[in-house]
This record gives sequence, C-alpha cells and structure tokens, in this order.
Amino acid sequence: MDAKPRVTVSRAEQPHDLVANWAHCDRISLPGYPDETEDAAQRTGIRRTSAFILTRKGMLVAQISDPHVLAPGKLFHAPEKAVPRGAGPNWSRIDTAACLARAVVELNALAPRPDVAVVTGDLVEHGSTAEYEHLRVLLATLVMPFFVIPGNNDSREGMREAFGSEGYLPRAGFLHYAIEQDPLRIVALDTHIPGEHGGLPCAERLAWFDSALAAAPKLPTVVLMHHPAFATGIAHMDRYGLRDTAAFGEIVSRNRQIECILCGRLHRAIDRRFAGTVAGTAPSTAHQVLLDLEPEAPL
Ligand SMILES: [Fe+2]
Repeated sequence: MDAKPRVTVSRAEQPHDLVANWAHCDRISLPGYPDETEDAAQRTGIRRTSAFILTRKGMLVAQISDPHVLAPGKLFHAPEKAVPRGAGPNWSRIDTAACLARAVVELNALAPRPDVAVVTGDLVEHGSTAEYEHLRVLLATLVMPFFVIPGNNDSREGMREAFGSEGYLPRAGFLHYAIEQDPLRIVALDTHIPGEHGGLPCAERLAWFDSALAAAPKLPTVVLMHHPAFATGIAHMDRYGLRDTAAFGEIVSRNRQIECILCGRLHRAIDRRFAGTVAGTAPSTAHQVLLDLEPEAPL
C-alpha cells in the first residue's frame, strides 16, 4: 500500500490559545491522501507531520523527528523483535534517508507553507561524519529555515561539524540555544547523555534553561527537547526516559510563556498536559513504535 502522510494542524486566535487548541487539533487530510487510521498508519509506515499555527503574525512551525539517517547506501536494520505483530518481513530494513527525503518534499509542498521547521533529535543512527553529511544534504532541500537538536543517538561534535556554520549551535559544551523567530521564541534543551538511551537535564543545563526563559518572559515560546519529561505508558520507552523531571517541571510551571514543548524520542505522537503547558512527542519520519501499553510489552 502506498502510504501517504497526514498533517495535523491546530489553529489559535491568540498565541496563548495554542495550549488549548494543541490538545484538540483538527485533523485534515490533504487532497488525494487516504484517511488512514492510526493503526493502519503503524502497519503501513505512514509518516505524519505535526504542525501548529500562531496566528498573531501567521507563524507556522513544522516538526519532524527521529529520522535516524545512515550513510548513503545503508539501510536501518530493525531488530526482529521490533517487527509489529502481523506485519510483513520488509519492516526489518528501512531506508531512513528516503523517508526523510519524502518528509522534506511534503513539508515544502504544504499550503500554507511552514515558516520554520524543527528536527527534534536522533538525527542520525550512529553519530558518524558520513551520516551527518548525508543528513545535511537531505535537510538542505528544505525551503524554510530549520533548527536541529540532539537525541540519544546523536554526537554533539558531529552535529557541530555539520550544522555549526548555521550559527545557532554553541561552539563548545551542550547544544542548547535560544533563538528569536518573530513572533515566536524557540528554546532548545540538550538532554543527550553520550552512550545512553535515556536523557538528563543536569544542573548546568537546568540553570541555562531557567535563565534562557527568564530572558524573555513575555514572548510566546516553544521548547524543543528530545526526551519527553512525562511518562508515556509505553514501558520500554519510559524505562529510558528523562531523569530528574521534577526540577525541569518546576521551571516550566513558572514560565507561562511556554506555549508547548515539542519532543522526539518516542517514534509516535502522544500529547498531554505538563506543568501548565502542553507537551507532545512526534512520530519518526521512518520507523514507528507500537502503542503497546502492557507493562511487559517488548521493544
Ligand atoms: Fe529515535
């Protein structure tokens, strides 16, 4: 079956209406795209792009996540146990670069076109220079500005090498940053721990996060981070989630300008309330995670 992406859009009359609307977004099907159910999307590998609109100045942000790009010619080998029940054997090898290329084509063709795109981590699979160069070439075809953050599979140095010339990534240390994309402010938090699946907003990063938000308490702000700070109910993902979330949540709850928190990591879309705002994860542009809420559900 030729799976096509579906787009989720929410509209807000005022910037702070976004919080309410984010959780109750209207689903729309683009012309010619099948109206797939979520389960069908899982089976067929459908890619979905989430987006939202801040209408005060017509701001549209698109999120893509977890592309897991490999070096040219390499395929992602999904472990056999990750094959969804009832799916065919072709799920075990995935051309993640082709998946990202399709997502880029779809983003460029959206009407209205997003003003900016964000890529919320697990940009590549192994963190190698060849993978980041491949990723850089693929993302270079986006027609709108884009911003990247690290996930657990990423390498800070590899990201700096590939995207450092864009000017928004720090030249050393953690890859966190704050940028003004009028009328929106983007605050990106680095939750990466080298060699680990889980994430950590350590004391140094939390202090930076707190001060970055305090610098512009009136500007509508979107927070980017790879690891969601909430339990998703998918046990094997929650086991390797974000540690020490209480201090992070306390900072978020003091900053009412945070419209939403956009996360990756989960390889499927889950949105929920969090510390006075709305937080959500995005699907991967490639392979997805089953919504299996059994405590002993396999990976
Ligand atoms: Fe991932």
